[in-house]
Amino acid sequence: MGLQASYVRLHENLLDLTHLSFLHAKSFGTPDYAKAAFETEIGDGKFALLRQVVPTTLPPVWGVPTGLTGPGQAARIVRSEFRSLGLHEVSVLFYDCHLPETDRPQFRIRTAHMPTPETATSTHYFIVHGRDFALNDPGTTRFMHDQLFVAFQEDVDGLALQEQALASTPAEDLYEFSVAADAPAVAMRRYVLARQQKEAQS
Ligand SMILES: [Fe+2]
Repeated sequence: MGLQASYVRLHENLLDLTHLSFLHAKSFGTPDYAKAAFETEIGDGKFALLRQVVPTTLPPVWGVPTGLTGPGQAARIVRSEFRSLGLHEVSVLFYDCHLPETDRPQFRIRTAHMPTPETATSTHYFIVHGRDFALNDPGTTRFMHDQLFVAFQEDVDGLALQEQALASTPAEDLYEFSVAADAPAVAMRRYVLARQQKEAQS
């Protein structure tokens, strides 16, 4: 996909999936997502956020293929991890949270988000999506592909608007407001800046 925004903004967006409840309210976000408990991991060049949304009601993109369509039926456990400048990985586990742990099917998806910078404010955005269920069902592949790309287009549109707003706003009118869930994203940006400064000196 063509993204009219910096690849760093894409990484920041992926590290704070709180935005699912707002930017993706009509696709794969749910209102409880932003309120769910989360943990952060901040290391040297590795930044992650783990969010557990339990119980929750899955949106159709996940509910239909897993069969977990009931209200409050599902657990949705998401790990977002910045692995390198060119790779962010989102791993998700779904299961029926009303079944005992020893007797519940588990459904996993894993998505690689791979940005390649084009300019300071534009990016080639590659996405690879995998799952461990309904492997031989092309209908599920088509359904998920179509639904997911509606959601990813929302990211592309939102990030382009963010880039435009930053470009058209005088620096003295800009200020940053961060909350606890932003910690991995802020640490990631500091890491990218430090690498950039180091390379500029060498
Ligand atoms: Fe998004």
